[in-house]
Amino acid sequence: MTTPSAPAPALELRGVSCAFGAHAVFDGIDLTIPPGQMVALLGPSGAGKTTLLRILAGTLPPGRGTVRVLGAELGRLSARQLRRLRQRVGFLYQTDALVPGLRTVHNVLIGRLGHWSLLRSLLSLVWPQEVERARAALAAVGIPEKLHAPVAALSGGQRQRVAIARLLAQDSELILADEPAAALDPRLRRATIELLVRLARERGRTCLVSLHDLELMGAGFDRVLALRHGRWFFDGPPGGLDAARIAELFAEERARGVEPDA
Ligand SMILES: Nc1ncnc2c1ncn2[C@@H]1O[C@H](COP(=O)(O)OP(=O)(O)OP(=O)(O)O)[C@@H](O)[C@H]1O
Ligand SMILES: [Mg+2]
Repeated sequence: MTTPSAPAPALELRGVSCAFGAHAVFDGIDLTIPPGQMVALLGPSGAGKTTLLRILAGTLPPGRGTVRVLGAELGRLSARQLRRLRQRVGFLYQTDALVPGLRTVHNVLIGRLGHWSLLRSLLSLVWPQEVERARAALAAVGIPEKLHAPVAALSGGQRQRVAIARLLAQDSELILADEPAAALDPRLRRATIELLVRLARERGRTCLVSLHDLELMGAGFDRVLALRHGRWFFDGPPGGLDAARIAELFAEERARGVEPDA
């Protein structure tokens, strides 16, 4: 009788160390995230959230250790293989990284470039390709009427929705997001994170989202990872991180006079 083997992790770090000059951010950190898991990455400023996401994105090679993304070991990939792998990963940043001179439809379809030939990509600038896909992605994020709007005419919250629609159009297997709602008005933050998590879950994607904002807890994540000084401070379900642990996590930051954003 054969037992089905567990699926390969979507993300895996083994003994990863990373330093900037003499300053060690990580010293032998491990992490396993199975496919389809929705994970929040929490921690005070300087804890290493962005550094961890850069390592997983393949833009910052760690000094030591192995990094596996969607089953591939990053250190063993050629530049071309790394580019191919990155097409399977969707990135979301604090500011939306939309192209300001282009209409919404083109910005959403940028998510398709990795799937298209150069000719088709160029043609799309004149005659948008796969418009229905862009329309469906914008409908999923609640702004279908903005298909032809110039992005300069969108609000901050709408722009971040366009960035999420671009991820949907890209059809990435994995989403890595670094404080994707931090630049938004506090009342929009929770809604934006909830939308991202819900859409990723419906599509069976894996999601790792760094957050600095405690208000974003409870947005539908399966798991919370908390980093402090480059080490795991907490790893468990969101309900397991109680007020006392949260206060401990941010204690030094509060002592320095930095409050977690409300
Ligand atoms: N390019 C760099 N050169 C030198 N030091 C760096 C660099 N990037 C990050 N660091 C240092 O590494 C540590 C972790 O930084 P990182 O940006 O990962 O923190 P973070 O958790 O994302 O913080 P924040 O919540 O402020 O975004 C910090 O001490 C930071 O000063
Ligand atoms: Mg950061």
